[in-house]
Amino acid sequence: MKFPQSRPRRLRKSAAMRKLVQQTRLHPADFVYPLFVSEQVNNPEPVGSMPGIFNYPLEKIAEEAQKVYECGVPGVLLFGTPRRKDATGSESLKKDGIIQRAVEKIKEINPEILVITDVCLCEYTDHGHCGIVKDGRIDNDATLEVLARQAVSHAKAGADMVAPSDMMDGRVGAIRRALDEYGYTDTAIMPYAAKYNSAFYGPFREAVQSAPRFGDRKTYQMDPANADEALREIALDIDEGADIVMVKPALAYLDIIARARATFNITLAAYNVSGEYTLAKLAGADKWADEKKLIMEILTAIKRAGADIIISYHAPEVARWLQETE
Ligand code: PBG
Repeated sequence: MKFPQSRPRRLRKSAAMRKLVQQTRLHPADFVYPLFVSEQVNNPEPVGSMPGIFNYPLEKIAEEAQKVYECGVPGVLLFGTPRRKDATGSESLKKDGIIQRAVEKIKEINPEILVITDVCLCEYTDHGHCGIVKDGRIDNDATLEVLARQAVSHAKAGADMVAPSDMMDGRVGAIRRALDEYGYTDTAIMPYAAKYNSAFYGPFREAVQSAPRFGDRKTYQMDPANADEALREIALDIDEGADIVMVKPALAYLDIIARARATFNITLAAYNVSGEYTLAKLAGADKWADEKKLIMEILTAIKRAGADIIISYHAPEVARWLQETE
């Protein structure tokens, strides 16, 4: 059928018609909200690089997670900043470390809140790298052991799922074996499977003071120019026991999300990262764009590309907007 019989505008003529044919719908349950907990603050401290985002002291973290849960967002992803950083990130393994205690606090007030923990070293190392450094290089296999111990200690504290973000080879397998060995067979793993070496992480690194002190993350995070490699990375993680796989960042990597969706039969998460968040907030605040429309369009595009789960700093505001329009 051709014009004039065919007129696609027929299906756009009223709000009810548009609603009927709308293919992608956001729901509060699509989201996970990242939360920052820090031993270096006594009160919620605004993150300068991320409007509306705070670093919370331990005493406030559970209350914040509960607020988010009440908006219909099922889970939070925790990032911790310890008081002291050292070469091996030893603070990350402590039973009373910032993340371990944060998990316990949240589970104490509401065990229903899904608690996911970031497993990595960069928030805990004085050099800011995601692994153990030997002779100026990141030692892959030495790092695996620390990551596995960290994951076990998060599981012991009560984490439902661990999310390794380091991009070392073989870490999903190492973490799965360690979790199983210690009896945490029900703790899920959501690796940052295809994580790119991205300038969009800038605001986050300011929040947790994790910018590398020397060099960069190019020997472990992926080159933004590569697409096929992302599929190989994801395949390896699935093979090693990933329960959910993640693509990160999201907005500039919609092609990767779409290809992962088409290639693998597994739950797919996308991380709408700090830089994406801050760009949208700044454009909205300066009225260069309609903030709500801009944010909803970005998140809808991420879901349309194929993400089942969106990890986003916008989660609570979006959940509230979605409730208003129901
Ligand atoms: C740590 C980690 C990073 C992010 C999540 N986990 C930063 C990095 O790799 O430098 C980025 C999150 C964001 O930008 O919102 N490895």
